[in-house]
Amino acid sequence: MDNFNGLRLLRNQGAAALALTSELAFLTIAALDLLIYILRPDIVDIRNRPPDIGDGLLGEYDFVVIGGGSSGSVVASRLAEIPFWKILLLEAGGEETIFSDVPALGGGNVRTANDWQVEAEPHEGYCRAMSKGRCYFPQGKLLGGTSVFNGMVYVRGNRRDYDAWAAAGNPGWSYDEVLPYFKKSEDMRIERLKSSEYHGTGGPLTVEESRYYPPIIEELLKAGKELGYPDTDINGPTQMGFSRSYYTMREGLRCSTAKAFLRGKRRNLHISLKSMATRVIIDPSTNRVTGVEFDRSGRKLRVRVRKEAIVTAGALRTPQVLLLSGIGPRDHLTEMGIEVIADLAVGKNLQDHVGIGGMTFIVDDPITTVLARFNQLQTLGQLFFKNEGPYMSIGAAESSAFLHGKYSNSSDDWPDVALYTKSISEVNDGGALVRLLEGVSEEFYDAVFRPIERMDSYGIIPTLLRPRSRGSVTLKSTDPKVQPRIEPNYFSDERDLDVLADAAKFGILLSETKVMKSHGSRLNPNKFPACAQMDYTSEEYWKCAAREFSMSIWHFSGTAKMGPRSDPDSVVDHRLRVHGIEGLRVSDTSIMPTIVGANTNVPVIMIAEKCADMIKEDNLDDYKAL
Ligand SMILES: Cc1cc2nc3c(=O)[nH]c(=O)nc-3n(C[C@H](O)[C@H](O)[C@H](O)COP(=O)(O)OP(=O)(O)OC[C@H]3O[C@@H](n4cnc5c(N)ncnc54)[C@H](O)[C@@H]3O)c2cc1C
Ligand SMILES: *[C@@H]1O[C@H](CO)[C@@H](O)[C@H](O)[C@H]1NC(C)=O
Repeated sequence: MDNFNGLRLLRNQGAAALALTSELAFLTIAALDLLIYILRPDIVDIRNRPPDIGDGLLGEYDFVVIGGGSSGSVVASRLAEIPFWKILLLEAGGEETIFSDVPALGGGNVRTANDWQVEAEPHEGYCRAMSKGRCYFPQGKLLGGTSVFNGMVYVRGNRRDYDAWAAAGNPGWSYDEVLPYFKKSEDMRIERLKSSEYHGTGGPLTVEESRYYPPIIEELLKAGKELGYPDTDINGPTQMGFSRSYYTMREGLRCSTAKAFLRGKRRNLHISLKSMATRVIIDPSTNRVTGVEFDRSGRKLRVRVRKEAIVTAGALRTPQVLLLSGIGPRDHLTEMGIEVIADLAVGKNLQDHVGIGGMTFIVDDPITTVLARFNQLQTLGQLFFKNEGPYMSIGAAESSAFLHGKYSNSSDDWPDVALYTKSISEVNDGGALVRLLEGVSEEFYDAVFRPIERMDSYGIIPTLLRPRSRGSVTLKSTDPKVQPRIEPNYFSDERDLDVLADAAKFGILLSETKVMKSHGSRLNPNKFPACAQMDYTSEEYWKCAAREFSMSIWHFSGTAKMGPRSDPDSVVDHRLRVHGIEGLRVSDTSIMPTIVGANTNVPVIMIAEKCADMIKEDNLDDYKAL
């Protein structure tokens, strides 16, 4: 049995056999895989990986969870704690890879079969420097979802973000009420934070510092101090300041939600892989969910639902599942020829954190992560035999700052901009992985980055935390295999551009501190071609830059908004039940009425914890929450 599982695991890696970077040309992903497989049984973890249910599928389940990503893994696992409930988790992709457990290799999933490979619609107002004028959005298509290759940064967001949700008519979602759910998941392993009242220990989701931070990170924190900002725990009582990132990691490796919540799990939780839900079946006479229809490797299957279906397909795919089920705006459904079961604002209210990409600074000292500089035999030895070294680093967002720009009230502690730093800029890897991830066009890369390729450089991404613009997700086709139409509409409210251009000044200020100047820090001399007439120090330049290299931080949210029935834009109520439908909830980043001012992985895990708890409260007589 174990051997069989092992073979299957190895075969599945083939899907991600992307030649990692030109720097690692002598080792393909397949070879790395094999070495990990032989030398690191702790990573392979065969005994605990959850099996695919295959033909053991039952005809009926108490709960069917649609999408096994950051949120769905948590919901399914928590529901399965009730031994007499039978749970089915449907995941469109396959199982988790082994190489992406190694922090530096996670990006190797991007643009493979483990990624939905989403492309946004082209638009003259943004993503102009991208290949085909379309922004590229990586999205996990495998067990663990996007948590299998995200940046792992552990950030929860600001107290006021959640208080605003509660104030908008969503009882139970104020910061004080959600904090216990953050702590419930958490196993904080950083000594100095263990005793903080803001952190939890003993939960399934381990939180650690990385085992490798390149020297630039310490320098950037010093620069932050020089500018007068505190080095703070951004998940503590206040958010403003600079901090070294800590991560959803375990023993230095990635801790996806599949690893944290699904490994070694219960018999009453069935996981069906390569199973894409195509529709929730709703009885139109009662508006009650009766089943779920899905496609498993080309076969059309159905299961009956005894109690509830929970959609956790992510903010770009959850709308597709709902729309195909007859839940959505009447006009749009009618236009697509879908019978309307509930007229709700599904797919509207799309929000994201967008930043300015390509703000790249050169330094004279070897303090950033230039891959070619590493002796690969040595770094691989560190990885395979010591579980340390540069492979244990993610290379991006190793520190972040949450700051007040001139358009926000700095006595509020509700930062409106973030600066994410990257020790691997567009060029440190010789134009291999980072460029693929970010998706800029060949011409743009050649003009702006090629001339400084492989120089020591770091990136700062000034990012908008509370966007006013709203995008949308709509159907292009009733065929579930066709990607929905994604229109982020960045900067449709021009005030977003004002905030971003103002945020760019922080990047410049940082580069001009004494500590950064001592390393010769300076902006890439090659301006973006479309903005070349403007001055680097002007807000005009950065507005132009934002429209050219619109850098999504990939925090899509809001497409099935939580709110009271009286709010015409809302799709689910405060208990995440779809308005007007019985037995259907949504639990993922889609439900955020307004995007939180933080990376979204940990917030969505909190949402999932709370969702599972509410389901238990609503279905069990003597259940006590938390
Ligand atoms: C490159 C990248 C880096 C990021 N870095 C960070 C970070 O450092 N920190 C952070 O907090 N956040 C980060 N994020 C954001 C964060 O990872 C996501 O917000 C979070 O994972 C979203 O969780 P989710 O459950 O909503 O969706 P997902 O995790 O994407 O899960 C959705 C799941 O549903 C499956 N699915 C979709 N449709 C169907 C269907 N019809 N039937 C069956 N299954 C289906 C998908 O295959 C997937 O497994 C990053 C995102 C990206 C893309
Ligand atoms: C800024 O915030 C403080 C504290 O919340 C508040 O007292 C003050 O009125 C605010 N100022 C403005 C201009 O809104």
